[in-house]
Amino acid sequence: MKINAIILAAGKGTRMKSNLPKVIHRILDKPMIMHVIDNLRKADVSNIISVIGYEADKVKDVVKDNSRYVMQEEQLGTGHAIMQCADILKNKDGLTIVICGDTPLISADTIRDLIDHHLRHENSCTILTGELDDALQYGRIIRDKNGIVKKIVEYKDADEKELAINEFNTGTYIFDNKVLFDLIDLLSNDNAQNEYYLTDIIELMYNQKYKVDGCILKDLKETIGVNDRATLAYAQRVLSSRINRKLMDSGVTLIDPRTTYIGPDVTIDIDTIIRPNTHIYGNSRIGKECIIGPNSELIDTIVLNNSELTYAHVYDCTIKNNVKVGPFARLRQNCIIEDEVKIGNFVEMKKTIFSSRSKAAHLSYLGDSIVGEDVNVGCGTITVNYDGKNKHQTIIEDNVFIGCNSNLIAPIKIESDAVIAAGTTITSDVPKESLAIGRVRQEIKEDFGSRFK
Ligand code: UD1
Ligand code: CA
Repeated sequence: MKINAIILAAGKGTRMKSNLPKVIHRILDKPMIMHVIDNLRKADVSNIISVIGYEADKVKDVVKDNSRYVMQEEQLGTGHAIMQCADILKNKDGLTIVICGDTPLISADTIRDLIDHHLRHENSCTILTGELDDALQYGRIIRDKNGIVKKIVEYKDADEKELAINEFNTGTYIFDNKVLFDLIDLLSNDNAQNEYYLTDIIELMYNQKYKVDGCILKDLKETIGVNDRATLAYAQRVLSSRINRKLMDSGVTLIDPRTTYIGPDVTIDIDTIIRPNTHIYGNSRIGKECIIGPNSELIDTIVLNNSELTYAHVYDCTIKNNVKVGPFARLRQNCIIEDEVKIGNFVEMKKTIFSSRSKAAHLSYLGDSIVGEDVNVGCGTITVNYDGKNKHQTIIEDNVFIGCNSNLIAPIKIESDAVIAAGTTITSDVPKESLAIGRVRQEIKEDFGSRFK
């Protein structure tokens, strides 16, 4: 059965006090709307339409082709947002989930439960509901004498008796698509906010004897709708502890889960130890028996087994087995670090392939480089890769020894088994097995010290 989803994401999110649309604010370094999209996908919902409006281009820049888009130029309410999707969905068979772009914690499992419940009970609409002693500012679920859902009353329109009801609307629903679009045009905006409320469709369905039902959410924290920055932080804390708990249950040691931030798409294999104050985001994958942290940030990075990264900042790189990185190292933009490499303190690498058993132990910059096996990069070695206009490549072949404080002015090639004397500025290629030395010969001026004073 084809299941569509409409993500409501056109609002500004006034309470965020932000220049950015609310749904692109990030939780664990991932935009909220991308959490929603990925949770839908994990529940096998694939035809995803985002209703966008406020700063629509900024939302598109983030979501890219992970969704189709419908514009809602003026935000006249959640029902009005659905009306904008008629061109795509009206008269189509199948089911349509409606979910808000600011509820990133509604999990794939919950979405699956909602779909199952809907199909099992042969409903025309199933509302994901929650129960709270005080249902805050959520819309209240009103049931008739027989317990059948009759309507939803918005907080701002509710009377005292209705406000006392515990069951509330989480803002997520699944509809028979045809019924949704047959009835959506009948909504009016005659209410406290002069908006077209999607929630009013429930009463229309009840009156026309369509079967509407509520499916009560198990974990209430999933309903968190992010309206302000404090809730953004709270939602991150909740999601983070959920993710950390799963990792620990699967065999990963987190020394201090409270200061360990791991994104929802990261995988970590068993017996890896994550030390405090570490952030691992994006599509990172960490293998077995690694040690990561303290104070490290890894984004979109792959680490194979048995490697140790301390005080490291690594972005978009691959680090293979038995590698040591840090303390205080930075690797970025597609570095490939092969097995048994050592990258020590204050070393930066960019777009560099660094082959097995090579070492850059201290204070170096290697950019746009290909470094062979068993190379020793001495302390203070710099690839001079930028001439003010373009970037150039440095090639260092196997077994090269580079003395301390050398400048390698690219484009340049140092062939295998060559030796570079400390303090040399290399401006032309160095042949195999040879020594390159280029520095001012030292002079001695005797008895200079006393005259100097
Ligand atoms: C809505 C529900 C309420 C429910 C609550 C759960 C309605 C009328 N009310 O209220 O019953 O308890 O969610 O969180 O639906 N949006 C648009 N276009 C619009 C208006 C809103 O895309 O014209 C989007 C917003 O960007 C947001 C979502 O819809 O992502 C929800 O809108 P919001 O105004 O926050 O609804 P609530 O007042 O929270
Ligand atoms: Ca809301």
